[in-house]
Amino acid sequence: MWKHHGKLERHSLLLTIGIIIVVSIGGLVEIAPLFYLESTIEKVKGVRPYTPLEQAGRDIYVREGCYVCHSQMVRPLRDEVERYGHYSLAAESMYDHPFQWGSKRTGPDLARVGGKYSDGWHVDHLRDPRSVVPESNMPPYKFLAETDLDYRAIQQRLKALKAVGVPYTKDQIENARADLETQVDPFAGDTSGVKKRYDVKVQQRDFDGNPQKISEMDALIAYLQVLGTMVDFKTYKASDPENLR
Ligand code: HEC
Repeated sequence: MWKHHGKLERHSLLLTIGIIIVVSIGGLVEIAPLFYLESTIEKVKGVRPYTPLEQAGRDIYVREGCYVCHSQMVRPLRDEVERYGHYSLAAESMYDHPFQWGSKRTGPDLARVGGKYSDGWHVDHLRDPRSVVPESNMPPYKFLAETDLDYRAIQQRLKALKAVGVPYTKDQIENARADLETQVDPFAGDTSGVKKRYDVKVQQRDFDGNPQKISEMDALIAYLQVLGTMVDFKTYKASDPENLR
């Protein structure tokens, strides 16, 4: 065999073909199993598809390019975990299309920002970041509070997400508009189906402090407030099968 190896090494085309064969075997063995997502991402209790309002907010987040300065993935490194909280689980972004992991952090990671601040803080911060963080270089997004949220296509949006694998039910798609509207209605309370269709923990209130209209600010803050809050890390243990669905 070693005799022939000399021939292989002196012939660049043969060597290239040889390399391609060896590398593709390695690649297949390592990469192919990942396509079978079932075995790659463990489902974790609490992780659910976004409500229509949260999804609309997420679309604004992507539209405005917030990801240019913010990542959404806490790495499993000590300094990150101490600063932001439990490291991100694969399951936490399993319904994200497109995902927002990112590597650019002009601002802090936002994967666990939900519940860190009040809605009022977010309104002030998005309107004028320097009013609450004087040294901030984040741009202002005042117009979000003044712009009506355009959710005419919210049903189709959920349908499109379902087509790529987000398990929205027929009931959720049919009631998308109503669920969006009642999530921002502080008086809808228990009478709305949004908690029933998604989770009892769904935050239901007027997010931007202006009950006169459903603004883009309402949707964006609803999204920010749910980030990183779906899994209960007080009870979650990676090795405990009880936490997996
Ligand atoms: C040019 C970069 C840049 C862009 C674009 C940007 N941010 Fe920021 N953001 C920052 C910086 C820097 C900070 C830290 C200072 C501060 O709190 O304002 C920050 C802080 C934040 C915080 C507080 C995080 C914390 O844990 O204290 C939130 C929430 C936030 N940004 C949301 C957004 C959203 C939503 C968008 C898109 C609408 C956005 N940012 C766009 C730079 C940016």
